[in-house]
Amino acid sequence: MNDFRFSARTEPRTDRARPLATQAWFTVEPRDAAVASARTALPVRTFNESDCPLSHLVSELVAQVDAADPSQAGHSLRVAALATMLGSSIGMNARELRELRIAALLHDVGKILVPAEALRKEGPLSATETSAVRRHAVFGGMILRKIPALAFAAPVARWHHERWDGLGYPDGIQGASIPLHARVVAVADALDAMVSVRPYRKAMGLQDAFAELDAQSGAQFDPLVVSATGPLVGAPGFEDSVNVIAHDIEVLPAAA
Ligand SMILES: [Fe+2]
Repeated sequence: MNDFRFSARTEPRTDRARPLATQAWFTVEPRDAAVASARTALPVRTFNESDCPLSHLVSELVAQVDAADPSQAGHSLRVAALATMLGSSIGMNARELRELRIAALLHDVGKILVPAEALRKEGPLSATETSAVRRHAVFGGMILRKIPALAFAAPVARWHHERWDGLGYPDGIQGASIPLHARVVAVADALDAMVSVRPYRKAMGLQDAFAELDAQSGAQFDPLVVSATGPLVGAPGFEDSVNVIAHDIEVLPAAA
């Protein structure tokens, strides 16, 4: 196993005295009217870099995850955008949404410790390779726990592959024992995976992907989160909206 040691300096926060809701929001003009109407319909906001004292580190870690698994580049950004929409739909407050967005960005950070030959392999994986790839959840939790300002995101990294029925990994926890943020990211993760092209299969249509989610409601996924997904998926311009919001997130300043 890699001898992994992370050190990070936590910058003093300057926004402690005021609630997140009063901070300046980062906005990007929608590309067309359909996207504009979708964004109006969807109660979504994204956040500027002052929300996270380690935004440069977050951006770098996301870039490293994309580099570790180029076939899924952009996945972390889209999952963060989707998760933020879902969290908003189920009534999360500003602080919860901020933590959800950052945790979603970092949900697969453990992939940077998975051997590339297993992570990048096209086609069926052996049992050994499957178990190597699955370890990204444990690695992600380990990495984030070592960074005090990002430790809140560790449970999402560790438990985003757990299932509502307890048949997931790495710990097999179930139901409400799985933190809500991880249950939201699990749905966003699955939705993005299904609608994305993978080396071994075509992308599914959005409605077909939602049907799969719905079929797994109460088995793989939290029914509350799945029920919040339907209206979003059915909103006009939903896919464009995800891409626009992912772009908002992407423009966090790059590491120097
Ligand atoms: Fe994952």
